[in-house]
Amino acid sequence: MVVLITGANGQLGQALFSIERNYPSIDFVFCNSKELDITNKENCKQVFEKHNPSFCINAAAYTAVDKAETEPDKAFEINANGAENIAEICKTYNTILLHISTDFVFDAYYSKSTAYYDKELRLPLKSNLGLTETDVPFPSGIYGLTKLQGEQVVQHLWKKHFIIRTSWLYSEFGTNFMKTMLRLATERDTLSVVNDQIGTPTYAVDLAEALITIMLFCTSRNDWDNFYGIYNFSNEGQCSWYDFAKEIFNEKDIKINLHSIPTTSYSTPAKRPQYSVLDKTKIKEVFALNIQNWKRSLQDCLQKV
Ligand SMILES: NC(=O)c1ccc[n+]([C@@H]2O[C@H](COP(=O)([O-])OP(=O)(O)OC[C@H]3O[C@@H](n4cnc5c(N)ncnc54)[C@H](OP(=O)(O)O)[C@@H]3O)[C@@H](O)[C@H]2O)c1
Repeated sequence: MVVLITGANGQLGQALFSIERNYPSIDFVFCNSKELDITNKENCKQVFEKHNPSFCINAAAYTAVDKAETEPDKAFEINANGAENIAEICKTYNTILLHISTDFVFDAYYSKSTAYYDKELRLPLKSNLGLTETDVPFPSGIYGLTKLQGEQVVQHLWKKHFIIRTSWLYSEFGTNFMKTMLRLATERDTLSVVNDQIGTPTYAVDLAEALITIMLFCTSRNDWDNFYGIYNFSNEGQCSWYDFAKEIFNEKDIKINLHSIPTTSYSTPAKRPQYSVLDKTKIKEVFALNIQNWKRSLQDCLQKV
């Protein structure tokens, strides 16, 4: 079982690398952007020719959400054209594709999610568990739009795909909200964090484990053809960015004046979804996954920084 990982120097790539030794039966091939540029078809062909992978995890992406607003062509080239190249080469080599996508394909103001979310209580309405895989995406920024285009080309070109939508990714690797909070706490006495965008943090190592579970599921059964499609994955529970920051500082026993502010007081070039909690019912049922609450996974991660 050969698993090729694109974007290996990113957060998810490094999270996969950190657990590879736990899976001796899998031959992981980690390719950073220099070894495999997903926007270069010839390069994709050479790498697939050499390794002939049974699975490909496309963790390569343009993830600079705000910068994407001023360089849409670059975001499109990587997130949409790059995904197209990967889907095509996977089809050529009959490689099962695990393509990573995002909660930013949703926009709470427009999609079905508005009907799910009580803005006063900051809770999902009724008993629903968040946005499902069949809710209609409607991205509000360039990044989300190019990621949605990536999903669509994958769906169109190669049926043997799992599109995994995840949210608020963080880890001990790379740059992310948790690490930014820890850094800012060494530089400032006071911090203001948005309290009206609701989602779920996802520890990249938990996502990495889930991806491996999916691949092992495929190799252990002969009916996996029935299960291709879109799946949500995040940790369990929900919070605002303010709640997330508060938990980080509590866990690390960091004393700081933390203020909650509305999105209207924190302007960013790209608009964020106001509510993007993902419903994990499908991925839990199909792959028998147990998913940890975000607070528990945050503790695991904070022990490593
Ligand atoms: N970060 C989040 O909060 C978040 C939330 C939801 C979903 N996601 C999705 O989760 C996935 C993994 O995210 P991440 O946080 O691990 O991203 P990341 O840390 O930004 O890593 C992305 C990697 O992609 C590589 N890359 C960029 N252009 C490439 C190209 N043309 N060819 C090959 N590699 C290229 C980058 O390499 P260089 O560094 O060399 O450019 C980088 O190592 C992405 O699909 C992302 O959209 C992320």
